[in-house]
Amino acid sequence: MKKPVLEMNNVSKTYDGSTKALQGLSLSVYRNELISIIGPSGAGKSTLLRCINRMIEPDEGSRIRFDGNEIATMNKRELREVRKHVGMVFQHYNLVYRLSALENTLHGRLGYYSTLKGALSLFSDEDVKRACELLDSLGLEDRKLFKCGNLSGGQKQRVGIARALIQDPKLILCDEPIASLDPQSSKNIMEQLKRITRDMGIPCLVNLHQVDVALAYSDRIIGMNNGEIVFEGRPEQLTEAQISKIYGASIDELIAS
Ligand SMILES: Nc1ncnc2c1ncn2[C@@H]1O[C@H](COP(=O)(O)OP(=O)(O)OP(=O)(O)O)[C@@H](O)[C@H]1O
Ligand SMILES: [Mg+2]
Repeated sequence: MKKPVLEMNNVSKTYDGSTKALQGLSLSVYRNELISIIGPSGAGKSTLLRCINRMIEPDEGSRIRFDGNEIATMNKRELREVRKHVGMVFQHYNLVYRLSALENTLHGRLGYYSTLKGALSLFSDEDVKRACELLDSLGLEDRKLFKCGNLSGGQKQRVGIARALIQDPKLILCDEPIASLDPQSSKNIMEQLKRITRDMGIPCLVNLHQVDVALAYSDRIIGMNNGEIVFEGRPEQLTEAQISKIYGASIDELIAS
């Protein structure tokens, strides 16, 4: 049987002792899968992604196995090792705008360097070559030395993806990667993520607000509402009734809004 890359069991997160952002949810992620997580604002999508590498501490009793190891009980050193292998892609890119696309990509290697070497940007020739190849493969061959602040949104996000890929990730987490992009750039980014899962075998967990995008690109869709998974299935299994259940609104209301 195929082993999951990520196995979440009974994962909960309560903020400030009262807001139950995640309520005992379970989810397994396998290689070669692009999984979209959809749901209304406040459903817990970002909390779910951030609990995976403990950027947010899940409640006691939550079990998260990544690449065969339990994350919840890891010490700092073990957690650093895990974070090295989890790439993250953000809505607002999280790039250093005064630095080039190449330098920002290389930042994805920092987890592999000592603090001093990293601080002095003493990246190996091999890593520089790899960063260049990744930027080429993402269509940024003529933008490598551009300051990231001068790139378009779609180009910035492709640098964000290059930075995630150079980590040699076993999993990529994307929190609304296309929320700030125009439709054409959104399509391009989703196609890149699809290519990464299919050709490189790296699973991607992607938070999305657009149901049509989730339907077009996902191998599996997770629907969340109020901290719980209320739908899980292939795109063709997502009916209008299911969409209403996820969003707590009728399709007509959703289209109108
Ligand atoms: N740091 C925090 N402190 C307290 N409550 C929080 C914190 N972060 C999130 N929450 C609450 O947890 C719930 C889930 O938030 P989360 O950001 O995970 O939702 P989301 O599905 O990502 O929403 P959106 O689609 O708007 O990004 C919300 O009720 C939110 O107000
Ligand atoms: Mg969010």
